[in-house]
Amino acid sequence: MRSDPGHGKTWRMSEPVRSTIIGAGHYVPSKVVTNDDLAKLMTTSDEWIVQRSGIKERRYIEHDDIGASDLALPAAKMAIEHAGLEPKDIDAIIFATLSPDYNFPGSGVLLGHMLGLPGVPALDVRNQCSGFLYSLSVADAWVRAGMYKNVLIAGAEVHSTGIELADRGRDVAVLFGDGAGCAIVSRATDPNQGIKSILLHADGVGAPDLWVECPSSRRIPRLTKEMMDEGRTFPRMQGKQVFRWAVEKMPEVAQAAMDAAKIHVDDIDLFVPHQANMRINQMVGMKLNIPQEKIVHNIEKYGNTTAATIPLGLSEAWREGKCKRGSNILMAAFGAGYTWGGAVLTL
Ligand code: UT7
Repeated sequence: MRSDPGHGKTWRMSEPVRSTIIGAGHYVPSKVVTNDDLAKLMTTSDEWIVQRSGIKERRYIEHDDIGASDLALPAAKMAIEHAGLEPKDIDAIIFATLSPDYNFPGSGVLLGHMLGLPGVPALDVRNQCSGFLYSLSVADAWVRAGMYKNVLIAGAEVHSTGIELADRGRDVAVLFGDGAGCAIVSRATDPNQGIKSILLHADGVGAPDLWVECPSSRRIPRLTKEMMDEGRTFPRMQGKQVFRWAVEKMPEVAQAAMDAAKIHVDDIDLFVPHQANMRINQMVGMKLNIPQEKIVHNIEKYGNTTAATIPLGLSEAWREGKCKRGSNILMAAFGAGYTWGGAVLTL
């Protein structure tokens, strides 16, 4: 038996060696921003955005002073309730975001405070579009090691305050939206259930292809008017280059995750890919021979919510009855860093 001094819970180290997702939740702000709305701010069109990305609208925070942690809170409560738990049952928090409320401390501590969880550890993960899968890997290891019982993973982003809503930033600005998705990772209770594989990768060669370069601790001072005037404080992307990598690496890592889990693609019930571009996900689905109806897509409603896309997509799909306990789920992501990953689990 191992006792957790912080929370007074005990469990057997020899009990299940697998973890699984026992609940999911999501939240998006109420403000809908259509492609036509953006066309009033920059030279773009609904036709261009839909054709290139599949996005029709996205959500933005309604007013000042709403951070990633605020979006995560209702998503976390929904996930906790879905899992049949109460906030006090959460033993650890992992918060994946590229748009934390503050440079430091991380958003995880803010979420823990809002949930009323003093003393519960909180870790922020800065792995952009792959942030949820990196977090899942950490949560899986913690649960399997017997270190924590119920781990809350939050993926949440407020992009709308960080993008350049003008012609210079239009290639990036039209893609991103605000939102949150959460998952609770806990011990699997059924021998068939659980996370069967998680594969993670990174290659820093792609760092300048999708980044926010400034403010930077490499610069003295970290932030100058020149940096702001040059737009180096906004995300910049080599879209075609990122696209090429994504359509190669996502199917590769998804297939490797299925191989590691010893599962055939025909036995996958639902594929929950990162939502960066509808065209990317259609190409990935075709390469893997996954029929389109088994692929989760909500990019048309929310755009790219980065670390939130996978838990948000899973939470919606679960509620819509597209998956249930016992379903085999494939997940894959590719994004800034570069970082990418794939996972297979049985709910
Ligand atoms: O989740 C993070 C990972 N990110 C991704 O996976 C994104 C990967 N990349 C992509 O999804 C695509 O590259 C984009 C959707 C970003 C762009 O599609 P594209 O087919 O690669 O277009 P492009 O960047 O080559 O631009 C084509 C044209 C250019 O004009 P010229 O040079 O042909 O005259 C752009 O200036 O479209 C222009 N353009 C726009 N036009 C209207 C760029 N942004 C816009 C815009 N509206 N918002």
